[in-house]
Amino acid sequence: MQRRQFLALCASSAGSVLLSRCGRGQTQTAPEPQVKRPKLHTSRNGVLELDLEASAREINLGDETVDLLAYNGQIPGPRLEAKLGDTVRIRFQNNLPDPTNLHYHGLHIPPTGNADNVFLSVGSGEQVTYEFSIPQTHSGGLAYYHPHLHGYVADQILGGLGGIFVVRGPLDEIPEIQAAEEIFLFLKDFVVEQDRPMMGRMAGREGDLVTVNGQVNPSFSIPAGGLARLRLVNASNARFYRLALEKHPFYLIATDGHPLSVPVEMSELLLSPGERAEVLVRGEQEPGEYRLLDLPYSRGQMGMMGGMMGQNRRRPGMMGREHMGPGMMHQNDQDSPQTLATLSYSGQVEPQSLPQKLLPVDDLASPTTERKFALNHGMVPGQGMVFLINGKSFDPQRIDTEVALDTIEDWDISNTGVMDHPFHLHTNPFQVIARNGKPEPYQTWKDTVLIPTGETVRIRIPFKDYPGKTVYHCHILDHEELGMMGTIEMQA
Ligand code: C2O
Ligand code: CU
Ligand code: CU
Repeated sequence: MQRRQFLALCASSAGSVLLSRCGRGQTQTAPEPQVKRPKLHTSRNGVLELDLEASAREINLGDETVDLLAYNGQIPGPRLEAKLGDTVRIRFQNNLPDPTNLHYHGLHIPPTGNADNVFLSVGSGEQVTYEFSIPQTHSGGLAYYHPHLHGYVADQILGGLGGIFVVRGPLDEIPEIQAAEEIFLFLKDFVVEQDRPMMGRMAGREGDLVTVNGQVNPSFSIPAGGLARLRLVNASNARFYRLALEKHPFYLIATDGHPLSVPVEMSELLLSPGERAEVLVRGEQEPGEYRLLDLPYSRGQMGMMGGMMGQNRRRPGMMGREHMGPGMMHQNDQDSPQTLATLSYSGQVEPQSLPQKLLPVDDLASPTTERKFALNHGMVPGQGMVFLINGKSFDPQRIDTEVALDTIEDWDISNTGVMDHPFHLHTNPFQVIARNGKPEPYQTWKDTVLIPTGETVRIRIPFKDYPGKTVYHCHILDHEELGMMGTIEMQA
């Protein structure tokens, strides 16, 4: 991992707003200008074609200049947009010092060849052209491209690589949704102050600067009476976001790139790494400023691991707390909510209504096969802490799970360890059937599902269209690197 430096010279920054942002961690300051829209590449005549280059760069984040890894020099990477049936052709140039590749998280495309192949390695200095098409039957929604070469994934994602991939589809045509202000919020934290200690990998490394589209507390606005459509991606290595917008409920309309059948009202929304969600927000309050907050959330009791877990946030007093022995390790800035972005109102429109209906979510037939997966960790002499699925650490040569195409399976995924794990399956989305035996309150498709410590989640997966080998893993990418990944072979 290259060294990241904190280059901003706080003392010489002009202006009190700048000064107040200096110092440790996040401070809550006046919002930055309007949330930026990541640079767009859209398809023409059925083809989305572009050059994409990965390299190390100095990037400005908030008021700081940080050595990062970027696609086309941008944080986040360019926003790619395709329609159903489009061909996608990406001429990818790796100018990183290490090998890498591209994964299209959330796309139902072949896991083989020059498509969504996580076993493909693009060496430093090499070029590969990725090519695939978006099937007509694909769901329209929000996907997330990022590197996926085992051994390099966590560092490259923590270093900054990642971007939004939008598939336009029927959800976009619903009049109320078309009328809403579309706002992309790519949530990502960065290490700006120091290298993380080795131990931080076991907890999953979090950065000390939290950004939205590479900005610190950007603002976004809707007219009074209007609707915002927030399209959220958790692109962080390990950080969870427990989201709430002051005085505004969320109306959830899509999860992991798949529309719900009706909007579901919620006061807060937890997004673990790799998850996406879309919510509508109504401009129904008094004009003013309302903070989009990241509320405290504890994703495990790392202290129970014998005090050997390093604290992964650098905060005064934390070292002391850590040596007090077993205890909770909190992320998300411990006890205080943090501001991610700020909503304000500008102008006024006739009150817009929420859509009554979205799109039908298919009922799935009963499974033909049931499997069990246990997520845990253990100590291996000479290797230290490893993260395991069914007692095994990742081996790319081994096939862990063989499934037949055109069948439906139920998987019971249990977390018997002390940390939460977001479980992600490539290629085929699934529905969550039950948590700890209780049915889910609403039906939706997912590709990443949080398995909190001590819980069992049952998912139902139809395996469709594409034979080949791919993976499932914990999307805390340090855990994936430390072994919490398995292979799956889909057979025609
Ligand atoms: Cu978002 Cu296997 O990854
Ligand atoms: Cu994925
Ligand atoms: Cu994990």
